[in-house]
Amino acid sequence: MAELTPATTEPSLDAATLAKDFPLLAREVHGRRITYLDSAASSQRPTAVLDAMREYDETTHANVHRGVYSIAEEATRRFEAARANVGRFIGAPHPAREIVFTKNATEALNLVAHAWGRTHLQRGDVVVLTEMEHHANIVPWHMLAAERGIELRWLPIDDDGRLVLDDLDRVLDGAKVLGITCMSNVLGTLNPVAELSAAAHAAGAVVVADACQSVPHLPTDVTALGVDLLAFSAHKMLGPTGIGVLWGRESLLESLPPFLGGGEMILDVRKDGFTPNDIPWRFEAGTPPITEAIGLGAAVDYLDAVGMEAVRAHEIALTGYALGALGDRFGDDIRIFGPPEAEARGGVISFAFRDIHPHDISQILDEYGVCVRAGHHCAKPLMRRLGVNATARASLALYNDEHDVDSLVEALDAAGRFFA
Ligand code: ALA
Repeated sequence: MAELTPATTEPSLDAATLAKDFPLLAREVHGRRITYLDSAASSQRPTAVLDAMREYDETTHANVHRGVYSIAEEATRRFEAARANVGRFIGAPHPAREIVFTKNATEALNLVAHAWGRTHLQRGDVVVLTEMEHHANIVPWHMLAAERGIELRWLPIDDDGRLVLDDLDRVLDGAKVLGITCMSNVLGTLNPVAELSAAAHAAGAVVVADACQSVPHLPTDVTALGVDLLAFSAHKMLGPTGIGVLWGRESLLESLPPFLGGGEMILDVRKDGFTPNDIPWRFEAGTPPITEAIGLGAAVDYLDAVGMEAVRAHEIALTGYALGALGDRFGDDIRIFGPPEAEARGGVISFAFRDIHPHDISQILDEYGVCVRAGHHCAKPLMRRLGVNATARASLALYNDEHDVDSLVEALDAAGRFFA
């Protein structure tokens, strides 16, 4: 009797099949198949997302929350359904009230610093940030520091790009805010957000998480993370540009004043003042990104259909393959930043290669159709900690496979020969 093959319960995906859903990945650059390794900067969009936006524009578009005619009401229903879908995707307890649509994640974090920070922070108050934050979770606090005289404290990293938490209690002592990235856009490091949230709350601080790099690549549950506010961008999770998301705990959002003023964010306007709208519309002044919300909703549906557990499993395996392949081929010629274990990181691989400038590397790689980002990645304090001005960065997504990593290795080898 033939042996029965046990049913596999491991989540998995077929990246080469998924790649066919992304029209851009079929194009060539310099006569070669494109190898897109810059999804940490912006991911590509599947046909399902492009079609959803086009279908909405062709059949339903009108402004939302205003008209009482059929398509306006339909547009409003679809816009609000997208909001609920996004909230469900990240485990929001109250999706319809806790998801704020913004222009991008940067605007979401500015909203927090502006609305929460200007309400709750006074001279001498402490905001704790990590050395691996993106500028979007640094500069708004610097602006507040200049205006209010708040103090910024920093959680350091070790040489493997992990947060050093030995002194956590002292750093958090008296803090009002902990701003933390869930996953570094340079190092790939996955931070222990739940543990840090618990420590921050014990110290009386609110936790503001930058989840731009984590939401597209691993399952997200805001309740399990224990954070109070969480920002991310559609265009890194297979959706369009022009829309970001701020999730906030319902009670916290309810206590906040508006960010921008104008239409939609009010219940009443008089000559002597105004009454702000209920959440989440209080934070959505003016016409919102409607088509983009439809696209984001479709991106969430696509990711759901693939399964975020499968995305994460795929990216751990592919990151491990890439770390191994780069290390085996280039040895001491390559310095890869961040934790050495694939399980401890996402699929973001920043590196220095010999003494070749990252911009030169990126340009040579482009000749081979390989797209990687070079620069400071909007993380200049981190660059200074690493002792570099810039890095080259390859970043993976669900549509990348080992073939893409092999193309990167071959192109890097060619860059090495070019500069030999
Ligand atoms: N924040 C994006 C990146 O890391 C743009 O590339």
